[in-house]
Amino acid sequence: MNMPSGLSRRDFAKYLFAGSALSAAALDELNAGIGQKITALNQKYLDDEAPDGVYWEEIRKLYEFDDRFIMMNNGTLGPMPKSVFNTLMKYFRVQVSNPFDSYNFLPSFRESVRTKLAAFVNASPDEIALTSNTTEGLNFVINGLDLKAGDEVLMSNLEHPGHVGPWRLKEKRTGISIKEVPLSPATRAVDEIVGAFAAAITPKTRVISISHTVFITGLIMPLKELSQLAHDKGLLILADSAHGIGMLDLDMKALGIDVFASSPYKWLGAPTGMAFSTSARRPSTRSTRRSSAPAGKRTRRPPSSIRRASGPTP
Ligand SMILES: Cc1ncc(COP(=O)(O)O)c(C=O)c1O
Repeated sequence: MNMPSGLSRRDFAKYLFAGSALSAAALDELNAGIGQKITALNQKYLDDEAPDGVYWEEIRKLYEFDDRFIMMNNGTLGPMPKSVFNTLMKYFRVQVSNPFDSYNFLPSFRESVRTKLAAFVNASPDEIALTSNTTEGLNFVINGLDLKAGDEVLMSNLEHPGHVGPWRLKEKRTGISIKEVPLSPATRAVDEIVGAFAAAITPKTRVISISHTVFITGLIMPLKELSQLAHDKGLLILADSAHGIGMLDLDMKALGIDVFASSPYKWLGAPTGMAFSTSARRPSTRSTRRSSAPAGKRTRRPPSSIRRASGPTP
């Protein structure tokens, strides 16, 4: 920034503040305009005044990506809406112009983000941990699980490296065994998938760790049914749902998954590097579900070797 010459320190501070406040206000105004535009567009769409093509052309204008492209790959990063970019710029401006203020107000957003996210995926705010990406969320949880040599973890053969990596590292460090359940890339039948996992469970199995949306085939795994299977057998179930949020309607309570990690900057337009994982706090879940399992199917106690890492939710 070019500081006007002849300013005292006090004047300089005022100048800085006025500059950033003005810019922040302008960005807020821009976002308010975008909000109004979306409301009007949605109304027109509902009233059948804007057919599909027109509607989506208008929506497209609310994104920043290069107009030469048709965005068909939400892997790694999805497109960021202009309003999100504006908001990021607003807070970056505070960060660069008055770094001390970042201590005061940036952390104050954390709880409201957790609360909104929780409502969006039907979880409780205290079940949500904010992370930088799905891979980080999975790493935290996998590293924190108390498994011992010989314990088995079931994964499919269609998993993403960000999901496989932390398990393979744990296997090296602790002597657990990762078993790959082979699924055909063309598999779609729920019974076939659940049946393959059921057949792979042994007395040593402790965890099922599975993709929600498979990154190489687009298959959406039957998480609810796999979760039911896991709980009937007293196992923990983790889902790598990097693409889930924003692409699918998510309901954590209905899915029944114990740990679920997702990256809202792929399909939901969230700022890059803002993700979450949920760890269901359902202490009675296993005993409830176990008691509903058919007699004779329950041959083992819930794995006492598995405990979530203790301490407060990050
Ligand atoms: C199934 C799956 N898991 C994990 C990841 C890694 O996600 P992130 O880069 O957000 O950690 C991806 C990336 O697209 C993915 O498709």
